[in-house]
Amino acid sequence: MALCATLPLARSARSFTTRVAQIQFQLFQRGIKTTTPAQVAPSLVARDGGNQEPPQCGINVDTPVRMDTASPPPPGDDFPVAMIGAGNIMFGSKAGPWNHSFRIEHKLGPRLKVAALIDPDEARAKAVLATKCASFVNSAYKDTQVFPNLGEYVKSIEAGGPDPRAIIVGTPPEFRGGVTGGRNLELELLKYFPSVGYFIEKPVSTAPIGEVKEVAAQLAQNNNVVSVGYMLRYLRCVQKMKQIIHDNKLTIMATNARYSAAYQSIDKPAWWDKSKDMGPVIEQGTHFCDLSRYFGGDVDIPTVVAYSVENDEAAGKLSAIPVNEDAIPPDQRIPRITSAVWKYVNGAVGSFTHTVALQGTLYDCELEIWADGYHMRLIDPYNAPQLLVRRPGDDHSELHQFNDDDPFFSEMSSFIDAVEGKPGAHILSSFEDATKTYELTWAIRLASEKSAEARRAAGKA
Ligand SMILES: NC(=O)c1ccc[n+]([C@@H]2O[C@H](COP(=O)([O-])OP(=O)(O)OC[C@H]3O[C@@H](n4cnc5c(N)ncnc54)[C@H](O)[C@@H]3O)[C@@H](O)[C@H]2O)c1
Repeated sequence: MALCATLPLARSARSFTTRVAQIQFQLFQRGIKTTTPAQVAPSLVARDGGNQEPPQCGINVDTPVRMDTASPPPPGDDFPVAMIGAGNIMFGSKAGPWNHSFRIEHKLGPRLKVAALIDPDEARAKAVLATKCASFVNSAYKDTQVFPNLGEYVKSIEAGGPDPRAIIVGTPPEFRGGVTGGRNLELELLKYFPSVGYFIEKPVSTAPIGEVKEVAAQLAQNNNVVSVGYMLRYLRCVQKMKQIIHDNKLTIMATNARYSAAYQSIDKPAWWDKSKDMGPVIEQGTHFCDLSRYFGGDVDIPTVVAYSVENDEAAGKLSAIPVNEDAIPPDQRIPRITSAVWKYVNGAVGSFTHTVALQGTLYDCELEIWADGYHMRLIDPYNAPQLLVRRPGDDHSELHQFNDDDPFFSEMSSFIDAVEGKPGAHILSSFEDATKTYELTWAIRLASEKSAEARRAAGKA
């Protein structure tokens, strides 16, 4: 693999040098002096970046899993899947590129047999199945049975139905990740399907962190394949950052993440209500808190401090909220700005700002990390990911762009490969690790509420 990566790079090194010389000559003619930009070094093959390994390890960016370049699914035995939740993440929506069923279909081809679709909303489940059955993926869904809950599905298996090889969970987090009835989905899955692989959406839960840690411990002890949907870890730009860290043995000094949601396009009332979705840091900012942890490592949770701009402050007035916020109790309305700082266990500093301020539809998100001589900026990972890297001995930043990157496909492809026991399969977000991200997002929410409370008590807000 390293050899394949090096040959084209040798050719591109010559054209790189020529191009640099041309640009420098043009600038020289205009009286501008420049330093020579550093050449982009080929990536070394790194080890698996799962939570078992230190954060400087990642997967090899030179072996991407892209849907358009992946080889066609080879023929093979049937691969029965159970899907829990018939909503947007599973079957797509206009809100974004997520759609797990679409990626699984392309990964498994005719091997895919969706044995069960579990959702209390039977009409919704039947409607998505009708659409699938009317298309070229009919063979995967023509025998799918709809169940209102896991218990009914278990009964059908006990009556002779096929065991699933993978269970994909896309329910709202309030119904999972805990230990009490109604939200103890993973513990129920462990009881009935202990050797099946689980793919579980983020955030891992809305339950108290103690309960979620208990679930994480039981899953880790059971040791089946479990992957959590922090798909940004699979972005090639993110893996490039991992490899630069790994290749140069860097120690991260700081991370700074900024997540600006386009609030005008968020018309789910639950998102605006902290009692439902737990607030925007826990619901969506979690992706960037997770990426921060992916680079910075474990957070020293008691160090987290945070401030917010609340809905009742002058700076928190918004003019284009698409839901009726008056219907939400004032103390459950979400903050407009949340800004947090913390220390990582290894001594680095992390910071994160979530904003509910942009209108329109496109989010604006950026993550920066620093190490001695290095500054890496991950720009716009949702829409058009770019990576800018400044290295020692160079005042310029080099630009990395990976066109047509689809982290949702890489994530699902890696999960299926892991379930099938294929060599080199990488799960980049385990339940145990995702629980630490959940803990960080709660710590940020609680710290910002504490500071808002203190300001109110002092008559400053
Ligand atoms: N990774 C991403 O980028 C991304 C994107 C979108 C959503 N998500 C996550 O996916 C999850 C689901 O979000 P969504 O947008 O698909 O929500 P949704 O409301 O569109 O769909 C959820 C579905 O789950 C069903 N459901 C509720 N309780 C259930 C239960 N106990 N058992 C089975 N089904 C149940 C609902 O009836 C609904 O059909 C959330 O955790 C969300 O954060 C992640």
